[in-house]
Amino acid sequence: MKRNALISPVVKWVGGKRQLLPVIKKNLPKKYNSYCEPFLGGGAVLFNIQPRKAIVNDLNSELMNVYNVIKNNIDELILDLKKHKNESDYFYKMRELDRDKKKYNQLSDVKKASRILYLNKTCFNGLFRVNNAGEFNTPFGKYKNPNIVNENTLRAVNSYFNEVEITFHSKDYQKVLDSLKKNSFVYLDPPYDPVSDTSSFTGYNKGGFNQDEQIRLKECCDSLDDNGIKFLLSNSATEFIKELYKNYNPQIVKAKRSINSVSTKRGQVDEILVKNYD
Ligand SMILES: C[S@@+](CC[C@H](N)C(=O)[O-])C[C@H]1O[C@@H](n2cnc3c(N)ncnc32)[C@H](O)[C@@H]1O
Repeated sequence: MKRNALISPVVKWVGGKRQLLPVIKKNLPKKYNSYCEPFLGGGAVLFNIQPRKAIVNDLNSELMNVYNVIKNNIDELILDLKKHKNESDYFYKMRELDRDKKKYNQLSDVKKASRILYLNKTCFNGLFRVNNAGEFNTPFGKYKNPNIVNENTLRAVNSYFNEVEITFHSKDYQKVLDSLKKNSFVYLDPPYDPVSDTSSFTGYNKGGFNQDEQIRLKECCDSLDDNGIKFLLSNSATEFIKELYKNYNPQIVKAKRSINSVSTKRGQVDEILVKNYD
């Protein structure tokens, strides 16, 4: 199948990889059978390379529900998205829905996915941020004309998901990596090691991803390497990460981050690419 340019991210996501795509593409392995992306987020890399066989995962179950619904209930989803209003009162009413967990859990998967897509398009900076209680807490973005429905992209992604062999998971990445077969290729884009204390995002999920988590991930990369599975990893090029992966001769690349929690800190940040193949 030819690459379809309409297939692209349906959510704006912290750490979105659009900017780094050219250098990631240059560094992909020449041959692999199955693609795996265990920290999927907005999926900029998946949607760009459009593999025919893939296993994708993100700990964020709300996000993975969005992908499941796009695959299985696209017409209902589009109908529901058309009902949303780009108004402050309506926005906060939608945002509040997760405050009462019992009620929230009674919503259908389509309603939950529609809410996340709506909030993502209309909230400030498109930032998916939850507080310690797991509640979405980004304010209203006051955009003039947000593309809430985005039907062409959603339909293109729906066709892609149904034409290829793709499996969705929402669990810790290690469980996904443990089940991979030999000819797999893994692209890992974990929550970044913070460049400075003030630039750290812990907004993706309750919990966060600290240095111990980065060390656990490096150990998983070593296991992939021991098992002959190719991996490519991106992260911020902090001293800690450079030291952690030094035995893989990492490359340092300059890239612009699309979203930063502190807007004055947007700009050039060195990134690191680590791989275990030529
Ligand atoms: C840097 S983002 C990925 C961005 C993505 N490459 C893109 O283009 O949008 C990291 C993702 O890892 C997920 N995550 C955090 N901890 C995780 C874990 N233990 N296992 C799996 N996913 C996790 C977060 O929910 C977040 O979506």
